[in-house]
Amino acid sequence: MPSKENLESTVELQKSNCLIIGPSGTGKTLIAKTLAKVLDVPFSISDCTAFTQAGYVGEDVDVCVQRLLASCNWDVRRAETGIICLDEVDKIASTKAMSHGRDVSGEGVQQALLKILEGTTLQITNSRPKQAPPHHSAGTPSGFPGGVPTSPFQNFGGFGSGAPGGSPGGKGEVHTIDTSNILFILCGAFNGLNKNVLDRISKHSMGFNAPVRAQQTDANNIPPETAKELQKHFSTYFTPADSDAGSKNRASVIKQRKINVLEFAEPRDLISFGFLPEFIGRVPVLAALDVFDEETLVRVLSEPRNSLLRQYEELFNMSGVELKFTSSALRQIARAALTMDTGARALRTVLERLLSDAMFEAPGSSIKHILVNAAAAKFEQPPVYFARGQQGAFQAAFAAEESENNGLDIRNESEENHKIAAAGSAYS
Ligand SMILES: Nc1ncnc2c1ncn2[C@@H]1O[C@H](COP(=O)(O)OP(=O)(O)OP(=O)(O)O)[C@@H](O)[C@H]1O
Ligand SMILES: [Mg+2]
Repeated sequence: MPSKENLESTVELQKSNCLIIGPSGTGKTLIAKTLAKVLDVPFSISDCTAFTQAGYVGEDVDVCVQRLLASCNWDVRRAETGIICLDEVDKIASTKAMSHGRDVSGEGVQQALLKILEGTTLQITNSRPKQAPPHHSAGTPSGFPGGVPTSPFQNFGGFGSGAPGGSPGGKGEVHTIDTSNILFILCGAFNGLNKNVLDRISKHSMGFNAPVRAQQTDANNIPPETAKELQKHFSTYFTPADSDAGSKNRASVIKQRKINVLEFAEPRDLISFGFLPEFIGRVPVLAALDVFDEETLVRVLSEPRNSLLRQYEELFNMSGVELKFTSSALRQIARAALTMDTGARALRTVLERLLSDAMFEAPGSSIKHILVNAAAAKFEQPPVYFARGQQGAFQAAFAAEESENNGLDIRNESEENHKIAAAGSAYS
């Protein structure tokens, strides 16, 4: 009988590729890019829209592996433990309209990706000049001089770019790379997938107690009771029962989470969307992103280091103008962005509309302070301008609206507390 140590050494850990789905502008690409920044492994992002089947005009799918190799200076050993992000993967869904001829940019690409996703050995030639890697441009020249194996993290921040000519990573070099340990993260908006999911669910729910009645429910707007039922019957993940939530965090019971239909997506929904079962089978982890709500949009607007607010403040600052937003203005901006259905990208659209006049009027004029208050954010009046020497008035106007707001918040908070207390007494 093999000893425990022997058994342990024979277990080989394999990767689980992931698919991130969510509406446009919910941060799928941003998650992948941020990963690239924080992780210390080679990383590349490729757009699936450019891919075609081998032999046709367009990029071969091997290019994603080529980019990964380029990102770590053709260090094959490091690239073999890297991450490849395939963005806009929903664009390679096969189209039913293409019944005649070959679907070279849809199903053809899926077929070409099958082997790479699972693990195969590829011969990649360092032939074309590749675009600069996004984050990990530094590294040692590829190969292992003196036959010394390098640890995955050892080369990071090495000797600069692998210059062609002479270096082992030079042009024309053929590299053999095994993709079985490369993690693939696939991202896509999958517009219309929520309808597929809902159609499937509704087929199983006929009768009086049916959670969803076919064709009657808007995929984006499910009533809370239906949502609860759906969660119970179809959620692919564990969701705590209401009683648990009630005992631990009563506020969460009152504040019903809006349901995200994509959470219930299953491989068969993706197959009916236009993917090959073989392709979907190779991506076992499915993560759905929620549409932003007003509160989250306000946070997206103001919290990141490079947030939109800071960007616009800096833009005006360059002309010596101080720009300020009141918190109710921020909420109005988020509310306006919500109606556009383009996710966090809509925030920039709203801000551009709001500040376009000020951007032309303020630089080089006597305007030194601009206040965007709630009325301005509702487009009921232009932002309020203050000239040099009116800083006191500017600060006072800002403080006045803020304190008015705080008063409202306190009132809302006490109402909320009242509700929580009422719910608490109902539970006890
Ligand atoms: N969680 C977030 N925090 C901060 N900013 C965000 C967040 N999510 C999205 N954004 C902003 O929204 C922009 C668009 O996000 P991103 O490109 O990741 O969307 P996407 O989900 O890939 O959309 P698409 O499907 O249209 O490609 C980002 O550049 C970023 O400014
Ligand atoms: Mg994207």
